[in-house]
Amino acid sequence: MISKKMENSLNQQLNRELYSSYLYLSMATYFENINLVGMSKWMRIQAEEEHIHSMKLFDFIHKIGGRVVLEQINKPQLDWESPKKAFQEALAHEEYITKNINELTDLAIEERDHSTRTFLQWYVDEQVEEEAVANEIVQKFNLIDDSKSGLYMLDQELGARIASPVTVAK
Ligand code: FEO
Repeated sequence: MISKKMENSLNQQLNRELYSSYLYLSMATYFENINLVGMSKWMRIQAEEEHIHSMKLFDFIHKIGGRVVLEQINKPQLDWESPKKAFQEALAHEEYITKNINELTDLAIEERDHSTRTFLQWYVDEQVEEEAVANEIVQKFNLIDDSKSGLYMLDQELGARIASPVTVAK
């Protein structure tokens, strides 16, 4: 049995994951528009992964007898000052999501809701990965500085990303 407070908090997180997907899709179109198709592909895959994150919550809320409530998704930014700025924002966004996941986990512990606590562990681990990957890309932007050939090579590298075979468990 899940508390109403926990159910509402999980629904809020579902909305945040949908927004994350929307934000990265917006970054994908930004990169497409400035002809950095590798970065666009990277962001598109990221957007798809965020959708999977939201659907994991969708399934879990149903499984525990809760009600999924879909709220309005905020409109994401359309353009960024530079490719590096977009990835810096992605990193800042992941740090924000980590903070939310930690708060949700604190609530599950406080309520002695062990099933939700166990469910959230996947997100705790995933956030370590999400932050590390975004940070690594920002560091690469720092290394190439203003080099156009460096930007070209980084675009090629990020375009090689392959979607991870994560499936939505029902
Ligand atoms: Fe769903 Fe990128 O965190």
